[in-house]
Parts: sequence; structure tokens; C-alpha cells
Amino acid sequence: MKTEYVTINERSPDMNALHYAGQIIKEGGLVAFPTETVYGLGADALNEKAAAKIYEAKGRPSDNPLIVHIANMADLSRIVRKVPESALVLSEELWPGPLTMIFEKKEIVPDATTGGLSTVAVRFPSNRIAQLLIRESGGFIAAPSANRSGRPSPTLAEHCREDLDGRVDMIIDGGPVGIGVESTIIDMTAKRPELLRPGFVTMEMLERLLDGIDRDPSLDRTGMPDELSPAPAPRAPGMKYRHYAPRGEMVLVDGDHEAAKEYISGCINEEKKKGKKTAVICADEDRERFGADIVLSYGRRNDYECLARNLFTLLRTCDEKGADVIFAETVPGNGLGDALMNRMRKAAGYRIVNV
Ligand code: TXA
Ligand code: MG
Repeated sequence: MKTEYVTINERSPDMNALHYAGQIIKEGGLVAFPTETVYGLGADALNEKAAAKIYEAKGRPSDNPLIVHIANMADLSRIVRKVPESALVLSEELWPGPLTMIFEKKEIVPDATTGGLSTVAVRFPSNRIAQLLIRESGGFIAAPSANRSGRPSPTLAEHCREDLDGRVDMIIDGGPVGIGVESTIIDMTAKRPELLRPGFVTMEMLERLLDGIDRDPSLDRTGMPDELSPAPAPRAPGMKYRHYAPRGEMVLVDGDHEAAKEYISGCINEEKKKGKKTAVICADEDRERFGADIVLSYGRRNDYECLARNLFTLLRTCDEKGADVIFAETVPGNGLGDALMNRMRKAAGYRIVNV
């Protein structure tokens, strides 16, 4: 298949191009498009065959359900059975935005979209290109992140090209995304809402808006599961798969900042002696400190929004430059740090050293 490319400016979107992209989706095709979190790979969520194509293009296991994107509050009740009061509160405060809520689904949503589950995940994105495309496509776009399964999520159209050229009908380039980590996912079907995936909408923000909120216990596991301590199965099926992983081996170093830098420098020397190509992901202020083959900075120290925007690009850069080992310090796990550590721990395959 030949992939078509189109560039659309979020501030003055080309409606002809969006109408054309919407037609592709209406006819059962696949279009990669920007959202405020990461790029999504869209298909008509109510078309069984179209949704099934997503799994093939991504190489994604078919038991891993997709998020349905809407661009109109009134459309929510067309696909879900019941909207609890707490979900209305969240939608009023946080939609459109980087929050996904899970509801009991209506018949109209096919099994291919929900991986056979009786529930459906729904998000109303704030990116204007995404909203216009959803409206042009009939109102319901199923979209996972537009990466090949297992690769870091795409934050630039270029990443979609790397992973999906020739496998999808169209890629819309809407520039770099604003947030860089995927949406927060919360299950609204349980008695108490439960956080399944941390994102830009933080636990602290949700606690302020809700009467109470649980947290999927699998989020707080610290190591790889083994026979003695099997991990609880994550409630969002996708969270069980190896994710975000660069090809090199990533190691996170946790502890006092000076001690961590010391430790990383020592490791870099060791690995270099073994002939390994070393990389470090660090703050601007620490760039000069490391003698790694590849030194990548994410922005100023403690600017976690900047780290969120850059994290997946930096992991891809490590691959491009052929890093064998990648070192990074952990970040504090509160606020946006919850989502960052979640993605970094997965990228590192839970290799964390305490110094
Ligand atoms: O920010 C985002 O959410 C991006 C953009 C494109 O909107 N999308 C995204 O989709 O990250 P994806 O497919 O990469 O991640 C969706 C996650 C998966 O872990 C999946 O298992 C979970 O949502 N999920 C979807 N439907 C679910 C359901 N009914 N119950 C539990 N988990 C669900
Ligand atoms: Mg994904």
C-alpha cells in the first residue's frame, strides 16, 4: 500500500484535506493523526473490519482493546450504556483533554474495537486536527498510538512514517505533540473509579475531583514478575505488553542525585571497556558531566513537562544511534512523575538500581 502524506496546521486547518482524510476512514481505511498526547492510528470504531486492520498494521495482539475517540459530548451516550455522575464531573473538568474513561459499552461497538470486552474506553481529545478529523469521519475513531507494537509511542509524524509507512493509507503531519505521554486511563465501571494508566492528568488532580479513587495495584510493582512474586495482572490489557522499549538495554538509577551521577559515570566506563556503545539521558545541566558515546538531554532539570514531550523521541534517538546501553536517573513519582516513571520503568524492563 502507498501511504499518502499531508501536512495540516492546527491553527488554520485545511478543511479539504481533513474532509478527504475523513472519507478514507469512512471507507474503512487507516489514517495516522496528531492528538495532544501522542499520534494515533485511526479507523472507524464502529466498523468491525476497519478496526481489525489496526491490529495488523501495528502488529498488535488482538486482545488489546482500542480507545474510541469522540469530538462531541452528545456522542458519548450513543456508544456507552451508562455515564455515572462522577464521569460527568470528570468530563466537565477535563474533556476535551488527555483523559480516557472506561464505560459499559453498547451493542453498536464491535468486538474488534474492544478486544472482545463488554467495556469501551472513550476519549475526547483537545487537539483541533483530531477533533475535526473525528467529525469528518462520522464521529467515532478507534485509535491506539501510531507506533509498531512494542516501539516507543510517536510524538512526531516522522515516527509514524518510521513505523507505519506502506502499512496505512495516510499520515497527517500536525507537528510535534504538546504532551508526549499517552492519556490517563480511569475505569468508571467499578464502584470506585480506578486509575489504570497514569498520564498528564495526575492522581492528585483526580483525587481533587472525585470522592475516592483506587489505583490498579500492578502500577506500583517495582520489579519484573518472577515465580516467587508473580505480578498482579494489569487491568488495562495493553499495560501487560512490553512497551516503549528501545532496542538497547536501559537502566534507571535511583537515589541521591550526586551519587547517581557518580554511579552512571562508573557504569559508562565499564561498558565502554566492554566495547559497548553507551548512552545517557539527562538534564541540560548535567550534559558535560557524562563521557557517554551519546549524551541526550531532555531539557532543564526538574522540567518534567519537557521530559514528557521528549522522552519517546530520545528513546528512538538511542535506537537510531545504535546505543547498546542507556542510563537515566529516576524522577520523583508524584504529579506528572507518576506517568514518566511508569513509561521509563517499562522502557527499562524494570531494571532499576538503587544507589
Ligand atoms: O493518549 C492516548 O490515549 C493515545 C492517543 C492516540 O489517544 N492512545 C493510546 O492508545 O495510547 P493505546 O492503544 O496505545 O493504549 C490504550 C490502552 C491499552 O493499554 C488498552 O489495553 C487500554 O487502553 N484499554 C482500552 N480499552 C480498554 C478497556 N475497555 N478496558 C481496559 N483497558 C482498556
Ligand atoms: Mg500504545
